[in-house]
Amino acid sequence: MITRRAFLAGASALGVSHLTGLRAQPLARFADDPFRLGVASGYPRPDGMVLWTRLLGVPPSASVPVRWEISRDERFSSRVQKGEVEATAQWAHSVRAEPTGLEPDRWYFYRFIAGGAASPVGRTRTAPAAGAGALRLRFAFASCQQYEQGYYGAHRHLAAEDLDLVAFVGDYIYESSWGRDHVRKHDAGEPYSLEEYRARYALYKSDPDLQRSHQAFPWIFTWDDHEVDNDYANDRSEDGMAPEQFLVRRAAAYRAFYEHQPLPASMQPRGPDMRIYSTLDWGALARFTIIDDRQYRAPQVCPARPGGSTIVDPDVCREIADPSRTILGIEQEAWLETALGASPAAWNVLVQQTLMAQLDRKLGPERAFWTDGWDGYPAARNRLLSLIHARRVRNTVVIGGDVHSSWVADLKPDFDDPGSPVVASEFCGTSITSQGPSQRMVEALVRENPHVKFGRGDRRGYVLASIAGGRLDADFIAMDSVKIPDPKREVLARFAVEGGKPGPQRA
Ligand SMILES: [Fe+2]
Repeated sequence: MITRRAFLAGASALGVSHLTGLRAQPLARFADDPFRLGVASGYPRPDGMVLWTRLLGVPPSASVPVRWEISRDERFSSRVQKGEVEATAQWAHSVRAEPTGLEPDRWYFYRFIAGGAASPVGRTRTAPAAGAGALRLRFAFASCQQYEQGYYGAHRHLAAEDLDLVAFVGDYIYESSWGRDHVRKHDAGEPYSLEEYRARYALYKSDPDLQRSHQAFPWIFTWDDHEVDNDYANDRSEDGMAPEQFLVRRAAAYRAFYEHQPLPASMQPRGPDMRIYSTLDWGALARFTIIDDRQYRAPQVCPARPGGSTIVDPDVCREIADPSRTILGIEQEAWLETALGASPAAWNVLVQQTLMAQLDRKLGPERAFWTDGWDGYPAARNRLLSLIHARRVRNTVVIGGDVHSSWVADLKPDFDDPGSPVVASEFCGTSITSQGPSQRMVEALVRENPHVKFGRGDRRGYVLASIAGGRLDADFIAMDSVKIPDPKREVLARFAVEGGKPGPQRA
């Protein structure tokens, strides 16, 4: 409900000209388009989804009523639902609507209206009904979009794909400026406060290609470290900030993330805590199980600095094998056992942030593992992959990002044992823009790690996945350059997983 006081504050601040009552029209006038950050939708369910926008240009303390509308057609001549929510300063004038009662398995259009201004029209959809035998699911996954290192041409191409949804698997913003050959710059230094994180999201979301990609499909999300701080682990910062102080920063970063993404209100943060792990079903065809490997993890082992990651020899850094070390936290691990173990779906897509397959980074008989990824938590990885095997979780496909390179791998409970069964398939996607490792190094690592079937470090893009006819196809899509605004798209590699046969094969 709009309080009279909030309305009047908003109305007078915005220079309303024709006040004839509490809900007079037009409600307010904006000097500039208030919808400059675009619109977004997320988390499609059989009867609804989340709709999002954020108003810019509202005076700091004002509240603004915002109308939302859903229609079957783009011109809004067959409107099926509408509602009103109040955009408040407390939540940076972000707007979140969660319509219910829509029809399953169909596309809709939505828009927002405030103060006589209308937002761009977004396109979104509902999921198939629970248990329904959906024929097909097409989705893309993407990650790591450092704003300075490239243009978002990959999003322009992504927006033109034929998809049901997009899974974004982390590093939506970057807190720090780094890397070579910048094409544009962050407009401020590293964020610490809520205002600073809000400004960083506003900068990234001002990109028209990123807006197109949100406008075209519903998204689902997990996050990685750069939404807060490089290599953070639970309450530990990279640079040794006191945990209680770092949690204040984490609370600001999580809140800004919530304010800027189409997440359900059930994920609203409480201080530094924000539960984003969840499941999303696509009829009987697929379940997305979305996990969070940042918020609850044990600190990285054998750090070279106060915090953060390094590369270690597991024979020297013995703590790495400690079975009590967790990357998901005890509570999430228990939840995951049910989410996966009791999944009725034909296909199980595990949505997470980083490469899961073991990747020995030292050529020859000696071994070296990067402590920030699953390689830093081998016992936790073994528990997860053993669970998938023991509970016979059907057709498990792990998707991820973080490493700014593309990887295809067999997942096994014990990567060092040639007799250990392949229990799941992994597709790790490259970055949208963030710079990656050299192709020469990636090729050497592919030869060094026999369960790895493909690796590519030099190209940016995303992965298209399609589940239909008892198989999953994954196409690695690459841009020819991210240093130009309008790159060309090409298919870099094609892999497939046949139902009932874990392990990706060249298609
Ligand atoms: Fe990244």
